[in-house]
Amino acid sequence: MQIKIAKKAAAEEAAKLVRTGMTVGLGTGSTAYYAIIRLGEMVRNEGLIINAVATSEESDKLAREQGIPMVPFSEVQQIDIDIDGADEADASLRLIKGGGGALLREKIIAAASDQMIVIADDAKLVNTLGKFPLPVEIIPFAHELTMHKLRELGGAPVIRHKQDKVFITDNGNFIADCYFEEIQDPETLNIHLNSIPGVVENGLFIGLATTLIIGNDKGEVRIIHR
Ligand code: 5RP
Repeated sequence: MQIKIAKKAAAEEAAKLVRTGMTVGLGTGSTAYYAIIRLGEMVRNEGLIINAVATSEESDKLAREQGIPMVPFSEVQQIDIDIDGADEADASLRLIKGGGGALLREKIIAAASDQMIVIADDAKLVNTLGKFPLPVEIIPFAHELTMHKLRELGGAPVIRHKQDKVFITDNGNFIADCYFEEIQDPETLNIHLNSIPGVVENGLFIGLATTLIIGNDKGEVRIIHR
């Protein structure tokens, strides 16, 4: 319950930044859920006029149910504001994302956005990234070789499962959750991971977040700008 208050507070603060005429990126996860719900209310009841693109099939469905007009990517050149959650964030606004398995679309949308607003409860703010296992999206073909390369980087990778089945992303790929424990140099690790053939993308988001909105269990928010 407490954590829901924190997530909702952060999400609703982020929704205040959305203005009529904007193209909005909609994130994935339990915090982004509250942002989509609030934006839906603003569209239905408060005269907000926006277009949106979603970072997952799940968020796309939720947004349509809420009456938010969704546009195909073929019609989008640039996104004004992206609102998304995170699994971990540090004070430099470097992130781990992908706990919900949507990291690839999340990174594409974040990189195409003028602003990336990250919303999270205060437990997500860390000194050093890496306690949360870093999700890495990998191609199913020869994934054993890719896993071997990830192991060589020290990530202790495990193929993600959901309900006893291998988890498949919206893009038809696997997720390798990598247990680094402490990532001292996220910039270098990001480069090494994305140099492995078979890795599509990894969950380190560096230089993408512009604002971090942290909620607490009293419903208060703290805003950190990059
Ligand atoms: C999904 C993500 C989410 O933003 C991240 O997992 C945080 O989720 P939640 O808001 O449910 O804690 O990266 O791929």
